[in-house]
Amino acid sequence: MKILLLGKNGQVGWELQRSLAPLGELVALDRQGAPGLVGDVSDLDGLAATVRALQPQLIVNAAAHTAVDKAESEPDLARRLNAEAPAVLAREAAACGALLVHYSTDYVFDGSGERPWREGDATGPLGVYGRTKLEGEQAIAASGCRHLILRTSWVYAARGGNFAKTMLRLARERERLTVIDDQWGAPTGAELIADVTAQAAAQLRQAPGKAGLYHLAAAGATTWFEYAKYVLAQAQRAQPAIEMKVTEVAPIATRDYPTPARRPHNSRLDCTRLQAAFDLRLPPWQDGVRRMLAETL
Ligand SMILES: NC(=O)c1ccc[n+]([C@@H]2O[C@H](COP(=O)([O-])OP(=O)(O)OC[C@H]3O[C@@H](n4cnc5c(N)ncnc54)[C@H](OP(=O)(O)O)[C@@H]3O)[C@@H](O)[C@H]2O)c1
Repeated sequence: MKILLLGKNGQVGWELQRSLAPLGELVALDRQGAPGLVGDVSDLDGLAATVRALQPQLIVNAAAHTAVDKAESEPDLARRLNAEAPAVLAREAAACGALLVHYSTDYVFDGSGERPWREGDATGPLGVYGRTKLEGEQAIAASGCRHLILRTSWVYAARGGNFAKTMLRLARERERLTVIDDQWGAPTGAELIADVTAQAAAQLRQAPGKAGLYHLAAAGATTWFEYAKYVLAQAQRAQPAIEMKVTEVAPIATRDYPTPARRPHNSRLDCTRLQAAFDLRLPPWQDGVRRMLAETL
């Protein structure tokens, strides 16, 4: 099987290079591309030509405009990357019969209520990022290509910057940290997302009827405040000699931390459908965070 991976150096893209490799011949591109192949997904014609040249059986799109606040001031670029590029990939996947795997987000929802969101629930994005990601989903679904769209949340990885690493850095620099305590979700490791992607893609070869839209997040739910406290406690347990300046971590409300983009209060994702369809069990969010800390500390 020939596999085209886009966005190979992102949090998820990096882990996909590992998890997809056993499935076949992997052509992994970052925005620089490779001789004769365009990896910059904002180059829509080049992207289409790349798929046509490679004729892959599987396309995995890990490239995206993920800077949620920045997206508010550059909606055209966000739309290009999050909606138009997936639409081109979907059109080309349909033409060559490839399966398209794409990632979406809890930000397609308005974040109301406390119940975990199901795949069929009404969407209502609060900002440009969520709106353009939703447009990407819709374009893929409308294209008629075989697809797997995985909506995930609060992604972290050992590689690259993330919330947990920021908390560790700030805890060394400051005596007091304030962290939002009224947004709920599940921190989800890029490693887990990549492993589930490979499992699902392999199963879809035998059972194409399982294609579609699924929620994928680690089990359980927490707030950014509880997540931060967990990270700091685990770091201290793993390395008792670690020097931290912080003496107080205090909870704050979303309204006390204004940002250009509004963020959902409830990002819980109900992953029952994914686990049943692919016979998988999603581990508690703490498991992956502990692993990531062990790798990065
Ligand atoms: N991060 C989260 O918390 C989160 C939550 C829910 C869903 N998701 C979704 O999960 C997927 C993977 O996210 P992630 O966390 O792995 O994001 P990430 O670490 O920000 O990676 C995104 C990748 O896209 C690449 N990219 C940006 N513009 C590009 C372009 N014009 N051409 C080619 N590549 C380009 C970036 O390359 P450069 O490094 O060169 O900029 C980066 O490698 C995305 O679809 C995202 O929407 C993420």
